Amino acid sequence: LCPPALTAAALTLVLCGCGGHSTNQTGRQGQGKAIFASVCTGCHTLTAAANTKPGGDPAIPGLTIAQLATYVRVMPVHLTPGQIDAVAIYLHATATTKQTSR
Ligand code: HEC
Repeated sequence: LCPPALTAAALTLVLCGCGGHSTNQTGRQGQGKAIFASVCTGCHTLTAAANTKPGGDPAIPGLTIAQLATYVRVMPVHLTPGQIDAVAIYLHATATTKQTSR
């Protein structure tokens, strides 16, 4: 499901991101994107149309980052709190983009 190289790359990104206080929202989004691509795409896609994955599209317009994080926490994957936040930020940003582009 997850090629080890991808998972390692995602972890490296996250670990690097935890080092300083310079990590901004955009940086966390990038981390979240990498985590999503390596551990979530087995069950989710971010394209609601033509969605054939069991988990559907988790970038739901209208949910807050905190609400998204509570969902991510119960997924059958093991992430650190920092990784959960990063993915939630990424999903939130994606949902917001979808909403405004309509
Ligand atoms: C083993 C399969 C699987 C994996 C891996 C997985 N999910 Fe899910 N996820 C699901 C299923 C099934 C649901 C429930 C969908 C429903 O009830 O509509 C769900 C629901 C969600 C929801 C709630 C919104 C919704 O669509 O119902 C979010 C947010 C979410 N997942 C995010 C994530 C993220 C982020 C990851 C990666 C860190 C992840 N999931 C990994 C299967 C998975």
